[in-house]
Amino acid sequence: MSDLRTTVGPLTFKNPILTASGCCGYGLELKEFFPLDRLGALVVKGLSLKPRDGNPPPRICETPAGMLNSIGLQNIGIEAFVNEVLPILEADGIPVVANLFGEEEEAYVALARRCEAARGICAVELNLSCPNVKKGGIHFGTVPEAIKALTAKVRQVYTHSLWVKLSPNVSTVVPLAVAAQQAGADALTCINTLKGMAIDPLTWKAKLHTTYGGLSGPAIKPVALRFVHETARAVDIPIVGCGGAATALDIVEFLLAGARAVQVGTLLFQNPALPVELEEGLRAYLDERGIPSLDAIIGKVKTHA
Ligand SMILES: Cc1cc2nc3c(=O)[nH]c(=O)nc-3n(C[C@H](O)[C@H](O)[C@H](O)COP(=O)(O)O)c2cc1C
Repeated sequence: MSDLRTTVGPLTFKNPILTASGCCGYGLELKEFFPLDRLGALVVKGLSLKPRDGNPPPRICETPAGMLNSIGLQNIGIEAFVNEVLPILEADGIPVVANLFGEEEEAYVALARRCEAARGICAVELNLSCPNVKKGGIHFGTVPEAIKALTAKVRQVYTHSLWVKLSPNVSTVVPLAVAAQQAGADALTCINTLKGMAIDPLTWKAKLHTTYGGLSGPAIKPVALRFVHETARAVDIPIVGCGGAATALDIVEFLLAGARAVQVGTLLFQNPALPVELEEGLRAYLDERGIPSLDAIIGKVKTHA
């Protein structure tokens, strides 16, 4: 039988299927559908220092091959997560990745410090798709200097695995990936949602309360694959793919592009048991072809050049 284990820096996961942040809360509801320890790792909903209600509805709508969301980073806050949720997840024996966001560098640093002190978190993932209120609202994730400064500050207080999640809403990704690596990131997650909009042609109204939202789902998979491929060639740290994965063959594509693990997000809303199906499908794909381990396919895409 093929070996599905993968490493992301110093971490070893039993398989490369991870959840994407924001698409299964804190994982507790998934337990109805499969034992959580079938996952490679669980990436939880973005956490902030204080609880947040998020944006008013409508904040989700379907689009061709995807969805738009403007949840506005609703969450229970880091303290409730660490004190009430983490002990339950720890009992399930599942590696937990804490997705973090803030409106200024100090918030990310304080969150990372809290995670450092907590038991049961194997990595933090910085969501940089947030406006930096102190810097006039520019997004942390769009300027290499901002990524570098933020990652370096978090690196000083966080000794475990530090992942930086890149936004696709940029014209070029390589300088951003390099900046994160130089500042001490252990891995990069590619990608967050693409900024988009939907309109009801009958009422003429924007479908989301916030007008714009984040596009996710199969519609963005080609963009995500391109980001994974470009960043994997530009940096030495591992890449975690994310964006539109729906089938085991999608997982294979991400691995071929250079990802060492793949997060599954939007499709969980359609099929919460999908991670187990993906794991089984990936195993069958490898077994049928006599591929002994993931290292035999990671980054092995054949290009025409
Ligand atoms: C409803 C919803 C909430 C999300 N919340 C977060 C979040 O809190 N933090 C984050 O980094 N990404 C968040 N994302 C982005 C996903 O983690 C992922 O990067 C994106 O949806 C692309 O993957 P997918 O096409 O498999 O969903 C969210 C996405 C959706 C659809």
